[in-house]
Amino acid sequence: MQDSQFLTTHYKLSHQKGKFTWESPSNIALIKYWGKKENQIPENPSISFTLDVCKTITSLSFSTKTKKDDEFSFDVFFDGKQKDAFKPKIKTFFTRIERYLPFLKDYYFKIETSNTFPHSSGIASSASGMSALALCLMSIEKLQYPRMSDDDFFKKASFLARLGSGSACRSIEGDLIVWGEHDDIVESSNLYGIKYPLQVHKNFKNYQDTILLVDKGEKQVSSSIGHNLMYGHPFAFQRFEQANRNLSKLIPALKNGDLKSFIEIIESEALTLHAMMMTSLPYFILMKPNTLEIINRIWKFREESGLHIGFTLDAGANVHVLYPENEANKIYEFIKNELVAYCQNGHYICDKIGFGAKQI
Ligand code: DP6
Repeated sequence: MQDSQFLTTHYKLSHQKGKFTWESPSNIALIKYWGKKENQIPENPSISFTLDVCKTITSLSFSTKTKKDDEFSFDVFFDGKQKDAFKPKIKTFFTRIERYLPFLKDYYFKIETSNTFPHSSGIASSASGMSALALCLMSIEKLQYPRMSDDDFFKKASFLARLGSGSACRSIEGDLIVWGEHDDIVESSNLYGIKYPLQVHKNFKNYQDTILLVDKGEKQVSSSIGHNLMYGHPFAFQRFEQANRNLSKLIPALKNGDLKSFIEIIESEALTLHAMMMTSLPYFILMKPNTLEIINRIWKFREESGLHIGFTLDAGANVHVLYPENEANKIYEFIKNELVAYCQNGHYICDKIGFGAKQI
């Protein structure tokens, strides 16, 4: 699969101005993307649950520039306030996608964005933010090609979002998304996310994710730096192989509703992700004492109750507690009674598996 399929031909500026708004969800990886090649190509395939509650809402207003120049021209507003700190990342994104969207230098853009989750919650907004922006840009592209199919629209949105932030390509659709080539998943691609095409047992319907906000501060080490530390990492090769194997093992667990195997795979993935951080050079630790306290309590409760509670982590201290809907009452009681005490200011977010972005 070549990226040339996403190049735009016969381009002609047809609209002077307009505005599009999309809301796009966050996602939580079950098999982790950690390590990439040039051009945001992942070293291994990953799979994620799309979330439902944690979202970014972005409006993109565009108007033709009065004077044509060779610059990207845009302003960013976050929660109604100008936010120049977001500009460098968006400029990098525009530079990467310019060849696929030739109108980018013809317009002035006003980007207005906000999140449904608090900015300082330790929840990364790059996946939801970059996917929402990619979708707004695709809506402009669609003005040129009104007959573009939904399939092509969402595929290119995912392709573009990946160039903003890798995990963002998994935030366009739901409810389970695979990104990165894998032998057992025929249509899988390194260039964009696809809906998981294989059978999924009803046990995973409405799967719950309670996000325990252990540390709401800025991360000490960004994901981009973390990915780079996988170059020359002593366990890199084994890790990329393991991710492929774990995805192979996840396929029958998803098919058969095998929650025990599912939990074993996702917890191992979460701990391996953090083990990679601890064994890179320079090494770093993003978990906090309360992260470990919560993990130990989850394990103890699982042992005692026989319920199917599991966890995953992203690149931070927060814990995503994952569990099936039919056990939700008892598990939620346990979370409130025993785990919330370990959250910063008692804060947590009740989320669940969701179905992707929406135009509003
Ligand atoms: C730990 O997608 O944030 O959440 O491509 O550099 O923007 P960039 O990285 P990013 O990395 C996400 C890492 C992760 C695992 C995952 O979501 O698969």
